[in-house]
Amino acid sequence: MARTMLVVGNWKMNGLKAQLGEVEAIGAIASSHAGVEVGLCVPATLIASASGKAGGAFIGAQDCHQKESGAHTGCLSAAMLKEAGATSVIVGHSERRTDQHETSADVAAKALAAKAEGLKVILCLGESLETRDSGKAIDFVLDQLAASLPEGAGADWLSIAYEPIWAIGTGRIPTMEQIDEMHSAIRGKLRDLIGAGEADGMRVLYGGSVNADNAKDIFAIADVDGGLVGGASLTAAKFGPIIEAAAG
Ligand code: PGA
Repeated sequence: MARTMLVVGNWKMNGLKAQLGEVEAIGAIASSHAGVEVGLCVPATLIASASGKAGGAFIGAQDCHQKESGAHTGCLSAAMLKEAGATSVIVGHSERRTDQHETSADVAAKALAAKAEGLKVILCLGESLETRDSGKAIDFVLDQLAASLPEGAGADWLSIAYEPIWAIGTGRIPTMEQIDEMHSAIRGKLRDLIGAGEADGMRVLYGGSVNADNAKDIFAIADVDGGLVGGASLTAAKFGPIIEAAAG
């Protein structure tokens, strides 16, 4: 099934209003590559101002709370993010699974909370270096997928991002064979979990040290449907060539 390439920047804890010019420049590049879906998941403080400047790109958030409201100091609900202008949200990034001790059950609940507000969701998975070195990366990631996948997961609102933890921000990436093997395994597991129709339409992104030099090779892999990009999404100069690589 033909899947539209999806390239999403994850700005993490980077970006002040001074960087809105980069949002605008990236949005303009997105507008001129209509065949690729482009998004920027900016810090929550920038969502409202960025959404008016993003051109052909959508603006997303980097996390949401699983509850609609309540006594959760410092947290943001899906409705708040949507009201600010986000149309998507990342859930289950490894930095949150580690730093905020989020479990796969939390991640599934966050995805459902986002869906209830009409947000699209990018659900992250990935193994540690220790797990990779022990030869159990595929088993680990498929178990994490099964445990994190929300009820009613559908290709129209959910995408998966495979991000090996040891490749994030390190400049080190798996071999193309390892990426291919993992993405095919994820696709196969999705078929078991949600049926071939939904699984074959669902985007599975690769993330972890994607840059202008490696993007073309990574995006050429059959079951890679785009990328989740951290450091190289912070400027239009670095992100632009990655968007172009996805355009083919
Ligand atoms: P990176 O981050 O591209 O800087 O490695 C990717 C991510 O964590 O989403």
